[in-house]
Amino acid sequence: MTLLQVHFLAAGFWLGLLAVETVLELHPRASESTIAVVHKWVDLLFEGPAVLLVLTTGALLLGGNWPAPPLLLLKAGIGLVPILANFYCFPLVLARARTTDAQRAVVLSRRIKLTGAAIPFVFAAFALGLYLR
Ligand code: HEM
Repeated sequence: MTLLQVHFLAAGFWLGLLAVETVLELHPRASESTIAVVHKWVDLLFEGPAVLLVLTTGALLLGGNWPAPPLLLLKAGIGLVPILANFYCFPLVLARARTTDAQRAVVLSRRIKLTGAAIPFVFAAFALGLYLR
């Protein structure tokens, strides 16, 4: 399997996880505690490793294409936005699953949901990545 294929698969897997997490976080009848525990394990077992794989393979691909054309730099930059948002979100998810303070859990949930604003960047990076093939 090539580095590009691993990058593509990791990016696609991450997109699927984001779809599941969006349903989980926005589900009207799921309890806060269920959302907190399920999101934590999805992050620890799947999303964390997938994001690190997208970043590592992306950086290696970029290094292999250096000096990179402007459109590829733009694509990498757009791809970094949701990766950084994920690095911000990850400790919030862990803190929410740990806390017994209901008010704090509500505040953390609000911040976690806000990081969802980075999801369109994942689609943009994916589309630009395919366009650059
Ligand atoms: C949300 C994050 C990202 C997504 C969804 C994404 C998606 C993709 C896709 C779909 C491709 C095309 C794969 C193929 O041709 O089979 C690609 C290629 C590539 N990506 Fe990403 N990527 C992301 C983040 C990054 C980051 C952070 C970097 C750099 C640090 C990066 C660097 C590259 C490079 C250099 C290529 C290869 C372009 C080429 O040689 O054609 N990507 N990406």
